Amino acid sequence: MQHIDIKCLFEEAKYIGEKVTVCGWVRTSRESKTMAFAELNDGTSLKHLQIVIDRESLEYPATALRLGTALKVEGVVVEARQGGVEINAEVIEILGECPLDYPLQKKRHTLEFLRTIPHLRTRTNTFNAVFRVRSVMAGAIHKYFQTRNYTYVNAPIITGSDCEGAGEMFRVTTHPFNHEYKTEEEYYENDFFGKKAGLSVSGQLEGEVAAMAFGKIYTFGPSFRAENSNTPRHVAEFWHVEPEVAFAELPDIIEIAEDMIKTIIKDTMDACPEEIAFFDKHFEKGLIDKLNKILSDKFEVLDYTKAIEILKESDKEFVYPVEWGCDLQTEHERYITEEVFNKPVFIINYPKDIKSFYMKQNPDGKTVAATDLLVPGVGEIIGCSEREADLEKLLEAMKARGMREEDYTDYIELRKFGSVPHSGFGLGFERILMYVTGISNIRDLILYPRTVGNVR
Ligand code: 4AD
Ligand code: MG
Repeated sequence: MQHIDIKCLFEEAKYIGEKVTVCGWVRTSRESKTMAFAELNDGTSLKHLQIVIDRESLEYPATALRLGTALKVEGVVVEARQGGVEINAEVIEILGECPLDYPLQKKRHTLEFLRTIPHLRTRTNTFNAVFRVRSVMAGAIHKYFQTRNYTYVNAPIITGSDCEGAGEMFRVTTHPFNHEYKTEEEYYENDFFGKKAGLSVSGQLEGEVAAMAFGKIYTFGPSFRAENSNTPRHVAEFWHVEPEVAFAELPDIIEIAEDMIKTIIKDTMDACPEEIAFFDKHFEKGLIDKLNKILSDKFEVLDYTKAIEILKESDKEFVYPVEWGCDLQTEHERYITEEVFNKPVFIINYPKDIKSFYMKQNPDGKTVAATDLLVPGVGEIIGCSEREADLEKLLEAMKARGMREEDYTDYIELRKFGSVPHSGFGLGFERILMYVTGISNIRDLILYPRTVGNVR
């Protein structure tokens, strides 16, 4: 169908005075005796295009201007009195009728209500802005790595090894329900892969394989977590950005993470000024100032041990008691990022017992060279570490966690053949989108959120 993107009409003056065809959905309309006006949106821009209809010279179907109706409009582009452009309609054709029980009406709907209609919520201004920012930021992530000699690899989604530890993987099976098998081994042996398989929680282990050949790699794909966390920050299927860098130690990867976060935020702000202004107005007052401050300030780097001291010395009443060795809870993370520093904070050198087997053990024997990046309002957006390159120490850490060596033979061999220091991190894509849009529930940053008890 020959037509022009509405975005182009707003951006290119050459269309003024020209006759064009546009397509889109009616967002609002009003009719008087002699004139009618409709705002059309085709999804290419946050702004709607005003269609001006002279009722005395143009006839159109009675239902054409109903909310949600899909139209094709032919007309001349003219400068609008209030700035920008509009179209003086000459032909109006209905592409798709929209009856009066259309759930999206003129009023502002709550995000909770919109979650019940995921197939229609995309047609609101909020989701128009969310998904453009999501798309632009995905592009910015690829650009960041592509222009710095990283190779983009696609880690498998079905995997036989668990990266982050037991108890949170979705199983992949072709077995129907049955009681045929006596033992778990027998059950898995007879399954499709002849062993237990699941949906990957992280592409890291395969990312390390690639980094040991290509030096610098990144993955960008879905990861799956079956944990029963019904919070505004958890979904069972999320998009995961995972760079892995050979010859990088913890301070190097921290520098890369900070530079990447700042670069992709800047690129997104540059490409989506209207969307960011929209979020500032409707979701987080002061968002633009917050983002500019992120770009100009150095992120804080704080030792876990020091973080525990700060928490213990504070006069805040925490629900979860604080002791060296404990995992930081959301309330602790919020206190540190929001009240103490009010900026992104890398917490480094966590106790080894609360972290994963693959993290490099520090000389103190108690901590690992790992960091989480915590940000105000969201909490953890990045999990990061230098990897254990020493075979003996790696095996010892696996043994301590009851892991079977035969499940990780490829990973172990990387330490045998030409092992080098290397580091990487995982960025939760929806988590950084929460931070950049100020929208506080992760379910509103992904097309179809999958959470406990919720899939469609
Ligand atoms: O901290 P995590 O579990 O780290 C890893 O998976 C490492 N293997 C990454 C690596 O080093 N390559 O997860 C990394 C990030 C978290 O910081 C968070 O942003 C996001 O993934 N994430 C989730 N996002 C949404 N919903 C969930 N259930 C998430 N679980 C993790
Ligand atoms: Mg983590």
